[in-house]
Amino acid sequence: MTAKILEGKVFATQIKEEVKCDVESLKAEYGVTPGLAVIIVGENPASKVYVANKHRSCGEVGIYSAVIEMPEDTTKEQLLKKIDELNKDEKIHGILVQLPLPAHISADEAEILDFIHPDKDVDGFHPINVGKLSVGQEHLVPCTPLGCIKMMELAGIEIKGKNAVVIGRSNIVGKPMFNLLLSRHATVTVCHSRTKNLAEITRLADILVVAIGKPNFVTADMVKPGAVVIDVGINRIAPKKLVGDVDFESVKEVAGAITPVPGGVGLLTIAMLMHNTVKAARIQFN
Ligand code: GUN
Repeated sequence: MTAKILEGKVFATQIKEEVKCDVESLKAEYGVTPGLAVIIVGENPASKVYVANKHRSCGEVGIYSAVIEMPEDTTKEQLLKKIDELNKDEKIHGILVQLPLPAHISADEAEILDFIHPDKDVDGFHPINVGKLSVGQEHLVPCTPLGCIKMMELAGIEIKGKNAVVIGRSNIVGKPMFNLLLSRHATVTVCHSRTKNLAEITRLADILVVAIGKPNFVTADMVKPGAVVIDVGINRIAPKKLVGDVDFESVKEVAGAITPVPGGVGLLTIAMLMHNTVKAARIQFN
């Protein structure tokens, strides 16, 4: 039997509808329009596409969107000054600095991101928000792992009591995914590039989340029959060919449910950014 395909578009549309209603009720309750500022430094073409998509999504759900384009040679001090202005700007409830930063300031990334006020940190990368997540006080949570959880909830996939395996230990996906699954009562194992006997561990997973950045890395022999397989990877293997970290064609014959790439959880990331922006606005009004 082939797996149920978890189409990102279906869930993203549903989440955006929810956000749209929430934007309207926020306007009715407080007379406020949630606002998102996205700062992009330099000319990275992929980043420009991502930022344009965020701007368009804001328009779709009724969020005020400010895209701040700063030149490639922007200094750390100039960027911190801009973040300071946005931290104080009452029209802006969420701030996102698009990554990667240009090489000359990339070593300062942590200092720059930590300068965003934790209540406006819609990426959920600030150490205060990371700490809150790890002690079970979810505040603003990174969009991609939150989207994976939301998708499972909407698809009626139970997490409680399940064996979950996460491949990848990044701050953006693997670590927050671990905490989100754990606080929803899964038994969670995190694997990474140095894990020994990986397939033995992944074959125990009822829920397998893959974010390791290696094209078609997870093959059918690594997957328990009937497992839920969530592929967070996006790898360009030819000019017009994107694939995930999971070998979709073989794994879909074994899994119970699987997300495609493209068209899977990637679409949920922006929807969750919209969700986080409205949440940030509520936090600032409560
Ligand atoms: N660049 C690619 N993904 C992300 C993300 O989730 N947040 C930010 N700020 N930049 C990114």
